[in-house]
Amino acid sequence: MGSKFQAPRGTRDILPGESERWEGLEARTRDILSRYGYREVRTPLFEATDLFVRSVGEATDIVQKELYTFEDRKGRSLTLRPEGTAPLVRAYLEHSLGHGDPVTRLSYIGPMFRYERPQAGRFRQFWQIGAELLGPGAPPADAEMIDLFVSILEGIGLSGITVLLNSLGDATCRPAYRERIREHFASREGELCGDCKERLRTNPLRILDCKVPSCQPAIASAPSVLDSLCDPCREHFQGVQAALDALGIRYEIAPRLVRGLDYYTRTVFEVHAASLGAQNAVGGGGRYDQLVQEFGGPATPAIGFSIGMERRLRAAGDSEAGPGRGPDVCVVALLPGAVVEALTLARTLRGIGGDAAQSAADTARGGLRVLVDLAGRSASAQMKWASKVGARFAVFVPAEADGYSVRDMEAGKDEPRQRTAESLRAWLLARARREPLPQGAVP
Ligand code: HAM
Repeated sequence: MGSKFQAPRGTRDILPGESERWEGLEARTRDILSRYGYREVRTPLFEATDLFVRSVGEATDIVQKELYTFEDRKGRSLTLRPEGTAPLVRAYLEHSLGHGDPVTRLSYIGPMFRYERPQAGRFRQFWQIGAELLGPGAPPADAEMIDLFVSILEGIGLSGITVLLNSLGDATCRPAYRERIREHFASREGELCGDCKERLRTNPLRILDCKVPSCQPAIASAPSVLDSLCDPCREHFQGVQAALDALGIRYEIAPRLVRGLDYYTRTVFEVHAASLGAQNAVGGGGRYDQLVQEFGGPATPAIGFSIGMERRLRAAGDSEAGPGRGPDVCVVALLPGAVVEALTLARTLRGIGGDAAQSAADTARGGLRVLVDLAGRSASAQMKWASKVGARFAVFVPAEADGYSVRDMEAGKDEPRQRTAESLRAWLLARARREPLPQGAVP
């Protein structure tokens, strides 16, 4: 089927087949997050532009080149969120989510927007799962965060991952390191690519992250941030490593890991999966001890991470569509005039509405999925359709004098009639879930 329109460049539709995989991934992640005590926040998809400029950083690629910024009808500058941390900190302060508690755990799942050059694993709209731990500043918090990060990735079926770990120092030691880095690269400016020449003036640390081959010799000989840490930052970093060792979490120290956002202090980390090729970071995060204060709040250390959903699916090699699950029941109208009766029975069989508690319990355990043919097929064509869509049972309207006829489509045999719509529902539910049949039901 052709269309005059296509999804915008760098965006994609998540289609049936794949969407079930996404749902599974989200459900599993939410379960793991809640086991670590995280509660979800859903922030708006757009925020005041300044929120991102002042947190992600004026000199970053994200702010310089990648924001989707627009003016609304009153001339306010708004931006589609390129990441979730700044909006979450904004919400944390706006609604006093800390409640004076020294530790707050918050999470989010949703789409982010960056005007990047699209390629495999890189989109202009992509989804992130993120967690932020606000309050504690000591190394055990960093260890718990990285533990959660690894648990989520392993819990959603990703193996062969490498945790890269670094410390970027703080306001005491980073300025001196930044200056050393600037001097180092200034002395080798001739070897740098055009972007890095620009970064030399605006954000020299980012040169360490450049992938252009001609920049690599200058990067390889650059001074290490770990040699420039002040005593408190060095102790913190050692504490994080000791805690990770005790938890049995493997990591590699990566002195050139600098991350693409400016709010980080001390610990930063990323997880890479070899199977991803160039865009190999599945997720990343770090400590941002100044951000809450920069947004006008009290001094509140914090640490968090986010995981790219598309990259996670790609890393596991399972982003291709799988078959959907068929319905449990097709209600077959034996006469052309019986379609509305079929709809009525289908409504009863789904069991939604009437008794809210029963309906919720059915949803939790998996209520019946019931379809009625709306294409005006004949009764025999409806049977072919029911088997094509993979229905387990067909039931027929109008009912016979002694109840509803049922056919087991899998076994290819007729089942005993069920007297009422309610007893039919109970019987079908038990059979669909392969549970013992309700009391008094004919086997
Ligand atoms: P980030 O490293 O910019 O960090 O993004 C985290 C993850 O989002 C990446 O590792 C990648 O999996 C995914 N991602 C980023 N850009 C794209 C893209 N264009 N297409 C597909 N996936 C992408 C942050 O966003 C921080 N907010 C993480 C954080 C939370 N730090 C502290 N708390």
